Formats: sequence, C-alpha cells, structure tokens
Amino acid sequence: MADRILSPEDVPKSLWNGDNFLYLPRALRDVYRKTLDSIGKLEEACRDTPGGSIGGDTQEETNLHFVHSFDGSCARVELAMLDPKDELEKASDFFLQAFSGGRVRLLDIPCGCGASSAALLATVSELRRQNVLPREPLDVIVTGGDKSDPARNYAELVFGELKESLRNQGIFVSASFHSWDVMDEASTTPLLDQWLSNQDCDRFFLLIANFSGVLSNTGKIKKANVPLGEVMRWTGARKAAIAWIEPQTKKANRMSRNAVLGRVFEWLRIWSYEPKRFGEELTSESKYAHPVCKDKTPTVRLLLYRMESPRR
Ligand SMILES: C[S@@+](CC[C@H](N)C(=O)[O-])C[C@H]1O[C@@H](n2cnc3c(N)ncnc32)[C@H](O)[C@@H]1O
Repeated sequence: MADRILSPEDVPKSLWNGDNFLYLPRALRDVYRKTLDSIGKLEEACRDTPGGSIGGDTQEETNLHFVHSFDGSCARVELAMLDPKDELEKASDFFLQAFSGGRVRLLDIPCGCGASSAALLATVSELRRQNVLPREPLDVIVTGGDKSDPARNYAELVFGELKESLRNQGIFVSASFHSWDVMDEASTTPLLDQWLSNQDCDRFFLLIANFSGVLSNTGKIKKANVPLGEVMRWTGARKAAIAWIEPQTKKANRMSRNAVLGRVFEWLRIWSYEPKRFGEELTSESKYAHPVCKDKTPTVRLLLYRMESPRR
C-alpha cells in the first residue's frame, strides 16, 4: 500500500531484520523474561511443547499458556501493526493512527495474560523510542476481561512492569482486568460499563485476539451469541474501532464461517460500519526471535479477522 504512516522500509531494525524476522519490543521482552524468572519457568519456556494451549481457569493451564504462548500472541499483534511485508492493506495505519496520541479507552477481550494489548502498546512505544513516530502524549485506559483469575493476575503483573517504559515514551497507561465470561450476559454488561461509561476520551478501541480456540465450536458460539451481540451493539454505538486477530488455524477458519457469528456482526452494519465479507480475511506470517530462548525462531501466522473503522 502506498503512503503508509510507517512504510515497510522504515520499520526499525530493533523490530524487524528487513527480511523475514520480527523481534518483540525490547521492553516487553525484558518484562516477559523477568516474569518467567520470577515464577521459575525460564528454562521451561525454551522446551518444545505440543503447542496449541489456549489457557484456562486453573493455574496450571494458565502457566502453560503464559510460558508457551505469550510470545506468539505478542508477535501476532506486532506483525499486524508493522505489516513489514505489506500484506495487510490498511492494518498498520489503522493501529498507528488510533494510538498516535490523545486519550484512548481500549477493551482487550479475552485479555488472558495481557499479551495482545501489552504488545500493541510496547510496539508503539518502541517506534517512538526509535524516533519513527512522534511522542504525542497518549493516555490509554485498558480494560481487560477474561474468565481466568490466574491469567488476569499475570496481566496485572505484565502491565505493572511495563508501565514505566511506556511512560518514558509519553504513553500513560492505567489498566484494570475484570472477571468476564463470554457465555454470560450478566458479566458482559458490567465489563462494557467499565469500558464505555466514561466518555472522557478521543476514541474507543476494541481488541479481540486469539478467541477462536474458545469460540470455534457451534454450541459455544450459540451460547456466546447474545453477550457478543451486546459487545458489538455498544461498540457500534460508541463508534469504536475494532481489531480482531486470530491465528491461521482450522478453528479460526471454522469460526469465521459460522453463521451465528455472522449475525453478531450484522449489528455493525446497522451501526454504520462496512464489515468485510467473511472469507475475505487478510493473512500474513513471519518468523520471530523467541524473546528468551536464543536459538528458537518460531513462526507466527495471523488472520486479520476483522478490522473496522467507524464512519464518522
Ligand atoms: C488463547 S487465549 C487468548 C488470550 C489473549 N487474547 C492473547 O492474545 O494471548 C484464550 C483466553 O480465553 C479465555 N477464556 C476461555 N473461556 C472464556 C470465556 N467463557 N469467557 C471469557 N474468556 C474465556 C481464557 O482464559 C484465555 O485467557
């Protein structure tokens, strides 16, 4: 795409080696290493695992997800934001514009251990540190929702550690993480209230990442239909931008073709959006340097499931 805010040639070497290799932002790498070390899991992170962990309610399931999948979730968001191979149309501008300055209220669902919103902000921060983006004051109020208590505890830890490096680049973050069950209307309304009731901001942003492992089966989507519909109706009413990022898995493909989820998105049409048709999702992939294991170079694959900007 011509005339991007960040053209592929200008992606700094600290984030992309110019060929087929991403580096997570240094501040985020440091936080991840420190947190792994504090729970005695640094070595385990370098062991190969069967993969595909999507987290869960228990400490054990959450540890598995944090230790083996946090880096991949971070790399996926970073790839969408930098789009160094220019494969994702307006994605890079979409993120960089939304987080260029001012006051943003960001909802991250399901937030898990905070990987996706932390990577989003750490990437903006690294671009500022490398003088690629201006340091306009940026206030971000992060609201995270997830069913897992231990995952939200990790998210608190990660944001607690990351805040100072963000502040050094003019990004002032306050973050809160709330118990939320996508199958439960009663927990969705207060989460949305937390995100939206205060309109003291320039824009609202909804980030959904790596949800297909949870939502892919039809029974679950049916059950989540009403709460997700509420999320979309309010997202539309507040003219929030939406980014929904998934891995390129069979589950994500199956989810995108599910008619029930299609109906959830009908609300966006009503509220002045122009959603892409299902099946037209953009994809990209890259290798990345594992943030703590020297010799590990996993591949991250992303499917940009939804990217909606409000028509103002
Ligand atoms: C694959 S993780 C993705 C987390 C995060 N978005 C990321 O990119 O790393 C899936 C998350 O869904 C959460 N989850 C599972 N069932 C859920 C439900 N019914 N409601 C809300 N969150 C749920 C899990 O606790 C887990 O944190």
